[in-house]
Amino acid sequence: MYRRVYFDNAASSFPKPQSVVYAVQNILKTNTSNPGRSGHYMSSGIAKEVYSVRKKIADFFGTDETLTIFTQNATHAINLLFFGLLERGDEVIISDLEHNAVLRPLHALKKRGVTFKIFETGNKSVENCEHLITENTKLIFITGASNVTGETLPVRQIAEVAKKHNVLFGIDTAQSAGVVSYDMQKDNIDFICGTGHKSLLGIQGVGFLLMKQPIEIQPLIYGGTGSESLNANQPITFPEGLESGTISTPAIIGLGAAIDFISQNSKYIYEKEKKLYSYAYEKLLKNEFITVYSSEKFGVPTISFNVKGKPSESVCEYLSKKGVCLRGGFHCTLLAHQKLKTTDYGICRASFSPFNNTDEIDYMCSLLNSERLSEI
Ligand code: ALA
Repeated sequence: MYRRVYFDNAASSFPKPQSVVYAVQNILKTNTSNPGRSGHYMSSGIAKEVYSVRKKIADFFGTDETLTIFTQNATHAINLLFFGLLERGDEVIISDLEHNAVLRPLHALKKRGVTFKIFETGNKSVENCEHLITENTKLIFITGASNVTGETLPVRQIAEVAKKHNVLFGIDTAQSAGVVSYDMQKDNIDFICGTGHKSLLGIQGVGFLLMKQPIEIQPLIYGGTGSESLNANQPITFPEGLESGTISTPAIIGLGAAIDFISQNSKYIYEKEKKLYSYAYEKLLKNEFITVYSSEKFGVPTISFNVKGKPSESVCEYLSKKGVCLRGGFHCTLLAHQKLKTTDYGICRASFSPFNNTDEIDYMCSLLNSERLSEI
């Protein structure tokens, strides 16, 4: 039996803090009624708990709870923003590191007359982005950190550019929330799309779209909101008007506990993840059979590499058989793989959480020693 090592936290983090497990278990045992739907005390009790998590998320990112919309995940939040905000003739600017959660909705929106342009990231990310702005640019939308390389983008500088040109600015924090801190007011971020189950350490089933100020967004899903039930028109009130259907209360309660955990341990988490990243970077770099794609500079704790001449999926399958979980292949991210020229073999991606340790990295690296490579 091999030891279990989980280095796929960028896909979904594992394990979760004990406080998150406890909060989810507790709500499943004590109150799974539907918030905001019925007038009885259990429903109003759970509604209060959901409200307190909404407020917690809003405070964590520097906005108001009325502008905090629960979604299923980050992809849902991005779709809600794009389909709800963009109209024929609008132009969007994105980076060349965006996930398919950004690329595909925009590609689909071309049929509705929305266009998009892609700027090259690197030393001149900010200039390259600014250069693409025209009078039709409605939104600049970028990832906080690449899910392939772990590189962070200059969010604050690009936000300034957007503000200067009177363009809306949004970010995908799926990989960076909980590691990088954001303040929507101070950092001039109009929209944040995010998810609970990755670096925020919550469970699957809840994400969020946050707005800095009220902006008209059409719903993506129409239906029951718990309000104005005798009106056939969708209520346009925030946040319920954009949250039709029953929300995942256990996931929301878990996210509340996860945000408490992150807030109480933020310095430790950042330092630990930075240490793990640098440790893995140094070790992988020393192996002459390995190409490392991530940079020395820590962004988020995701590091990508390949064993020369071996398809990434074969390497990850080999590591999995030895107990080590990584994600190989293309990570739902066409653009980054085109940029890195890895659309043939993909990339092996190791992504860490504060619950990993350097011994686990030693174990993975020992499996990639030259004498073991013939096993792949
Ligand atoms: N988007 C997630 C990843 O990068 C699932 O693996």
